[in-house]
Amino acid sequence: MEFFAKKINDPATQATACAIVTVSGKQLSKNGQTLDRATGGMLAAAIKRGDLKPDAGSTLLVQTPAGTPAQRVLLVGVGKNRKVSQHEIRKILNASLRALTAANTRDAIFYLSELAEGSEAARALYQRLATTAVTSVYRYSETLSTKVARPALKKVTVDVGASTTATGARKALSQGKAIGNGTNEARELGNLPGNYCTPNDLAKRARAMARASDKLSCKILDEKQMKALGMGSLLSVTAGTVEPAKLIVMEYAGAAKSKRPVVLVGKGITFDSGGISLKPGGKMDEMKFDMCGAASVFGTMSALLDMDLGINVVGIVAAAENMPAGNATKPGDVVTSMSGQTIEVLNTDAEGRLVLCDALTYAERYQPKAVIDIATLTGACVVALGKPAAALYANNDKLATQLIEAGEKTLDRAWRMPLWDEYQAQLKSNFADIANIGGPEAGSVTAACFLSRFARKYHWAHLDIAGAAWMGGAAKGATGRPVGLLSQYLLDQA
Ligand code: BES
Ligand code: MN
Ligand code: ZN
Repeated sequence: MEFFAKKINDPATQATACAIVTVSGKQLSKNGQTLDRATGGMLAAAIKRGDLKPDAGSTLLVQTPAGTPAQRVLLVGVGKNRKVSQHEIRKILNASLRALTAANTRDAIFYLSELAEGSEAARALYQRLATTAVTSVYRYSETLSTKVARPALKKVTVDVGASTTATGARKALSQGKAIGNGTNEARELGNLPGNYCTPNDLAKRARAMARASDKLSCKILDEKQMKALGMGSLLSVTAGTVEPAKLIVMEYAGAAKSKRPVVLVGKGITFDSGGISLKPGGKMDEMKFDMCGAASVFGTMSALLDMDLGINVVGIVAAAENMPAGNATKPGDVVTSMSGQTIEVLNTDAEGRLVLCDALTYAERYQPKAVIDIATLTGACVVALGKPAAALYANNDKLATQLIEAGEKTLDRAWRMPLWDEYQAQLKSNFADIANIGGPEAGSVTAACFLSRFARKYHWAHLDIAGAAWMGGAAKGATGRPVGLLSQYLLDQA
């Protein structure tokens, strides 16, 4: 998809398959009025008849008379308030793109500048428009015998108002496009079934990405190398499967070597059966999504490459399959992590923290500026926050604030949770330094407390994305979150 930005003086002269204009209450925008005159008053008449609902995000597609340069006009309601909220902007953009993809037009011109007052608002609007456009044409096809056609939308033009320059808008559009593509990449990896997306498949994907870029290199550690490093915790998870585990390390060099990197660590459990602490059968298929943290690392690395940011970033993916077998780890087994701390595995289904803790210790070698791990870690997180928010934990307030702000800007949101000492007590074990579960209360918090024991040497944040990462039911599929939040955070760092 290609994006263009320009200042359009007369919308009536612009040839396009669809012009998108806003309606506030019953009032057409200035550009809308110009197009209305070009159609002999069709738009105003439709609004007067009440064909467009007054809510933000309502749409009405109007076919214009033959010979009109804009073949269609999409009226989009922006509500009645003078100030349009971020939440409403999201609705407006989502609804516009839904209408455009349903009409299957190849191109469109957006006249939305009145929604953005000031250059930061304009930047955010165009960035989000591009992300929304790119993600709206994603369709999953990989394992279908008949591929699903993607909507035709290939060319999106925005009319730039007084708030920003065409150059500023272009930059925002290209960053938004990069984030959209990264999000789609994460969705695709998340949606692939466990037999199409093994740890080895993820490793191949990393190698392909590194091959395609001179700023990205990658290293794949196999089980033998992990054993030599003392990663007994990670290896205890992969004991019962025939799929070899991989520690995938991607290094993006966008700045001088001396600049400390941000390290992203993704949970990459390509299928989580629970192991010997076997999960119940209902919805177990959804545990193919247990690598969505890893998918978000891949998606963010891809956005980072497209945005060509001048920072250093390392992506680490702890990839393994969690299966029961005669040689699988048993409840009560004690394993030794790379940090030297011993862990009593009271429940083999709390495997995410077991792979992440060794990856967190591995991250120390980068002397990182910050480490952020991303994981579909606990069902308890879904109970606490549902789908709208990722749970955020951090041992550093500034890092926490930066991540929350990046989430607000992209509406890919996170909500901070506590890491208080009181909760740490729940991880006490009589047979090891730490137990891998903390009992039925505050499950997302105690999982984060577990990880915090392995993240003492740097500024660290943990995003539990168990709710945010995928949708269930009829619209089952990966969301690609939190690629938006992470990419925005990196953008803000650059
Ligand atoms: N991958 C799951 C967490 C999960 C479950 C995410 C359901 C989304 C939906 C994780 O490995 C897990 O099984 N966690 C256990 C931890 C428990 C044994 C302490 C859980 O949440 O039940
Ligand atoms: Mn599990
Ligand atoms: Zn899991």
